[in-house]
Amino acid sequence: MKIFKTKEELQTHLCAHRQVDGKVALVPTMGALHQGHLALIQEAQQVAQLVVCSIFVNPTQFNDPKDLEKYPRPIENDIALLNAAGCDVLFMPSVEEMYPADDKPWHIDLGNLDSIWEGEKRPGHFQGVTQIVYKLFNLVEPDIACFGQKDFQQVMVIQRLVDSKKMPIRILICPTVRSAKGLALSSRNSRLSDEGKIKALCLYQALSYIKDHIGQQSVAEVKEAANKILIAAAEVTVEYLAICESRSLEEVSTVEPSNSYVALVVAWIEGVRLIDNMILS
Ligand code: PAJ
Repeated sequence: MKIFKTKEELQTHLCAHRQVDGKVALVPTMGALHQGHLALIQEAQQVAQLVVCSIFVNPTQFNDPKDLEKYPRPIENDIALLNAAGCDVLFMPSVEEMYPADDKPWHIDLGNLDSIWEGEKRPGHFQGVTQIVYKLFNLVEPDIACFGQKDFQQVMVIQRLVDSKKMPIRILICPTVRSAKGLALSSRNSRLSDEGKIKALCLYQALSYIKDHIGQQSVAEVKEAANKILIAAAEVTVEYLAICESRSLEEVSTVEPSNSYVALVVAWIEGVRLIDNMILS
């Protein structure tokens, strides 16, 4: 695997590759890689001849400076995992490389995505995500970019970015990779104790309850029962649990068989913010 730390080195390498005419796939990450990230690399390998993974803990998407500070950065282990996975290129720039002193301010209209759920709870987060992803897209010019369904609203935001900037990039959505018992893999899970990881299973259990009972009981009843599952686990603080129409992310109070829905959940355990979702249709 080739490792580049500057935009210039990366572009020179990609330029040479394009002359042999192969598709390029990009997998943007913030590192602390796990099987969820590696599944994205595998999907990318199915659809492209050259796979570029980026590792960059992007400061502009952290609305909590402590979260940025605490974000795990096990770079040696990440490099070993990417090598073993057969990734072709790793791009791991510095903050100065991605945000030079003369960088222009960034704002993109994301409609209601910027003001609901993650947009509301983490002000500025999606502006930061789109800012860095737009920079990476312009740099790598991938044919395909892979993102995880784990961050459901993020995928919608990225699609909005690509559409509004008219970028010829296919966004590939990869299913959420979970532990054997259902915990969605996340870099933040490494900050949970063993006990915390067991408690965290309540997110998957609540989502599974919703998936299994929606359409049989009223939305209010399903939601109440799912909420009880979450709060039954001691020391779990629910930030939101919602059943939404999957294209608008608007919360619903009734469901129709012909429509598609998603359940979204965010909860705090041991000071760690956990996010998960499940498609219901
Ligand atoms: P990060 O949290 O490192 O995630 C990188 C990619 O891996 C995202 O597309 C995310 O949805 C996906 N992912 C994480 N956990 C997953 C799991 N258990 N199963 C499947 N996919 C999973 O998301 C970001 O970084 C950043 O916001 C980024 C897009 C890189 C911009 O900085």
